[in-house]
Amino acid sequence: MRYVTLMDIYHHHITQKYVNRSGMAHAISCAYHAFHLSGKHKVNPDLATKAALLHDIGHYTWYRDGEWDFSLYKANDIHAIKGAERAHKLLIRLGEHPKNAKDISLAILLHTDSYLPKGNLQLTPLQEVVHLADQADEEPAGNHHYRTISPSKAKKMLSTLDQMVSDKMNRNLLEKDSS
Ligand SMILES: [Fe+2]
Repeated sequence: MRYVTLMDIYHHHITQKYVNRSGMAHAISCAYHAFHLSGKHKVNPDLATKAALLHDIGHYTWYRDGEWDFSLYKANDIHAIKGAERAHKLLIRLGEHPKNAKDISLAILLHTDSYLPKGNLQLTPLQEVVHLADQADEEPAGNHHYRTISPSKAKKMLSTLDQMVSDKMNRNLLEKDSS
């Protein structure tokens, strides 16, 4: 069962403010990658697509004298931590199941290890899918954050993906019942 759709998330003003800042085109592209990866990794496509759509919601802008300062960003970035918390609050407000909100939030927290001390993290399949989906859409010099998409195309792509997720979940249920 889906408690919240991708379209519900898209329309929320918090998503509009923060996901547009880090790149709506990148977020939607990652959500599609996460959908395709979810089959291979046997992960719930509902959680994977939501986590991928929201994975960069915690980005902050690091400007110095009107220019993006990559060294400031590298040294001080905590977007995964901020994003995990922000996405969790948003999902709960929209009516997401608390267990799902926690799983999605953790996948956002661990989608990158760039801010973490060196060490070996054991990712769950959901966390791995979100990490791979982000990598699949990355461009050199962070250019993936600057690709644009019109609101009408964004809505069309997300409503199509919502349908794909629902269909996949129904198919998974049918397969479970017949096995
Ligand atoms: Fe990203």
